[in-house]
Amino acid sequence: MMKQDVIVILDLGSEDNSRMARAVRGLGVYSEIHPHDISKSEWDAIAGLRGVIVNGGANNTVGGFAIDIPPWLLDAGLPMLFIDHPVDVVTAADHALLIREAALPPDDEILASLLRLFVFTDCKAEANWTMANFVADQVEAIRRQVGDKPVLLALSGGVDSSVVAALLIKAIGKQLHCVHVNHGLMRKDESEEVVKVFGEELGANLVYVEAAARFLDKLAGVADPEEKRMIIGSEFIRVFEEESAKLGHFDFLAQGTIYPDIAESGTKTAEVVKSHHNVGGLPEDMQFALVEPIKFLFKDEVRACGIELGLSADMVYRQPFPGPGLGVRCIGAITADRLEAVRESDAILREEFAAAGLDRSVWQYFTVVPDIKSTGVRDGKRSFDWPVIIRAVNTVDAMTADVEELPWSLIKRLTSRITAEVKGVNRVLIDVTPKPTGTIEWE
Ligand code: XMP
Repeated sequence: MMKQDVIVILDLGSEDNSRMARAVRGLGVYSEIHPHDISKSEWDAIAGLRGVIVNGGANNTVGGFAIDIPPWLLDAGLPMLFIDHPVDVVTAADHALLIREAALPPDDEILASLLRLFVFTDCKAEANWTMANFVADQVEAIRRQVGDKPVLLALSGGVDSSVVAALLIKAIGKQLHCVHVNHGLMRKDESEEVVKVFGEELGANLVYVEAAARFLDKLAGVADPEEKRMIIGSEFIRVFEEESAKLGHFDFLAQGTIYPDIAESGTKTAEVVKSHHNVGGLPEDMQFALVEPIKFLFKDEVRACGIELGLSADMVYRQPFPGPGLGVRCIGAITADRLEAVRESDAILREEFAAAGLDRSVWQYFTVVPDIKSTGVRDGKRSFDWPVIIRAVNTVDAMTADVEELPWSLIKRLTSRITAEVKGVNRVLIDVTPKPTGTIEWE
C-alpha cells in the first residue's frame, strides 16, 4: 500500500512546472510532473493519484501544433485544475468532471490558496508527504519494478548517486550491483569514502575500479577543454561497460536523475533527458530499463532523503562536483604532479571552509591550478612554481553566480597553508569574476 497521496502536474510546456510542484509540496502533498503525452499504462501505474493540474501557458505548441491533454484523461474520474489552458465546458460536463479553471496567479500566496482549495477540498488529498513515507513508497515501487532481477548503478560518490544507492540497497539489497570508477580525478579521499560507506558500512555489492593510470594515459598532452571532457566521458563509459559486462547481464540500470535535470524543459522534455541524464551519455545500444527513484525530487529534497536513509551529513551536503572532476580544474594538459596540487589545495580549502563555518553556506568552492609558472622565493632561494586560484561562488541555478566575499583572515590562512603544504606552488590568487562573464568552472 502506498502511503502518499499524489497530485499530478501535467506538463503542457509551461515554464512554471517547478513552481507548481513546489507549491503543492508546500502544502504537504506529494506531486509529480508528467509529460502531456504520457501513456495510459504509465498513468495507470501512478499509485495514490488524487487529482490533476493541467499546467498550460504560452508554450503549448510544438512545431505549430497545439498540444492538449490525452483524451482518455477526461475519463480518469479525477478532479482537474486547468491553469492557463482552455477547457471545453460542454465536453467536461459530458464527462461529469470536477473542474476548476484559473489563470496562473503571479503571487505565491494566492497560488497557495487556489491549490489548497483544489488539493484538499476538490481532491480530498491528505497532507501525508514526508520523507519517511516517500522512502517507504519508493522501496515498494522499486521492488515492484525490478522483481528479482539484478540492477546496475554507476556510483560516483556524488549526492544523487549516493542517495539512489542507499535507497536501492534498502529496497533490494544485494540485487543492486554498484560500480565505482576511480578515474583519478576524484577529490582527496573520496573514492576511499565510497568504499567505506557503501562497501563496508552498508554492505553493498560494490566493484571498485582503479582506473587512474588509464585515464591519465589517455589525457596525456591533451590541452583542449572540450577534448579533455570528451575523453573523460567516453573512457568512463568504456570502463563502466567493461566492468559491468564482467558482472553478467542486467535488464535494469539505476540512475541518480533528479528533477532539475528534466525540469522546465516544457515539451522538449524528451530531448533534455537524453543529453543530461544518462551516465555521462551511455551508448544507445545498451538496452536497459531505467530505475530513477529520485527523479521527482529537488536537490534539497534529495538531501533530506539521504538523511532519512541514514547517510552522513558530510555525504549529503556535499557541494556539486563536475563529472570530469578535478580534470577541468587542472587547466590545460593534465600532469600527475599538477593534478596532485589541485587535489591537495582543494582538500585544504575544504578543511578551512569547514573550520570557518562556510562549508554549508557557500554554494561551491574549489581550487584551480593553471599551466603557468611564476618566479618566487623560498628559503632564500629562487623558486619557479604554479599558482593556486581560489574560486568560491553562490548561485541559485548555476546559470549565473556571484562571488563569495571571503574574510581576509581566511584568505591569509589559506595562502600560508597552501604555499607551505602544496608541492610546486608559490602563489595564491582569488578569482573575483561573477558568472557571467566567467563560467563557474575554468574549463
Ligand atoms: P559552469 O562552469 O558551466 O558550471 O558555470 C555550472 C555548474 O555545473 C557544474 N559542471 C558540471 N557538472 N558535469 C556535471 O555534472 C559536467 O561536465 C559539469 N561541468 C560543470 C559546475 O561545477 C557548476 O556547478
